[in-house]
Amino acid sequence: MKEVLKWDDKYLTDIEIIDSQHKKIFKCVNRLFDALEKLEEKEKILKLVNCLDFYTTEHFDTEEKYMIELDYPEYSEHKAAHTHFKHIYERIKHNYVYKYHKSVYVLAIHLNHTMADWLDYHLQNEDQRLAEFLRKKFKR
Ligand SMILES: [Fe+2]
Repeated sequence: MKEVLKWDDKYLTDIEIIDSQHKKIFKCVNRLFDALEKLEEKEKILKLVNCLDFYTTEHFDTEEKYMIELDYPEYSEHKAAHTHFKHIYERIKHNYVYKYHKSVYVLAIHLNHTMADWLDYHLQNEDQRLAEFLRKKFKR
């Protein structure tokens, strides 16, 4: 399977639940990318977008719950970044639901690259800062 995003240990946060959720999201993004490249049917693409939605929602909720509970100072910026990511795959979904045409694949592949870039950046920046904060809190 062609991967748009390769897992690398540089993404690890050493917080088990976050790392396992990140890996699931990588899998979803790669499966969606692969399906788009193979011009799979609308139903299959939408199923994969929904799968991505499920794991992403679960994961963002986990991080946001920690941030609220532990009074994380960068909560609002971090939450805004998550919302941005959701908008990207919602656009893919929207295009498939309402404007189903071969041309939507081009847009979807572009958006999928945008998601991969976002994840690559977010995991190495915002999530690393959050993980450092959480590791200190959990040590106590
Ligand atoms: Fe995050």
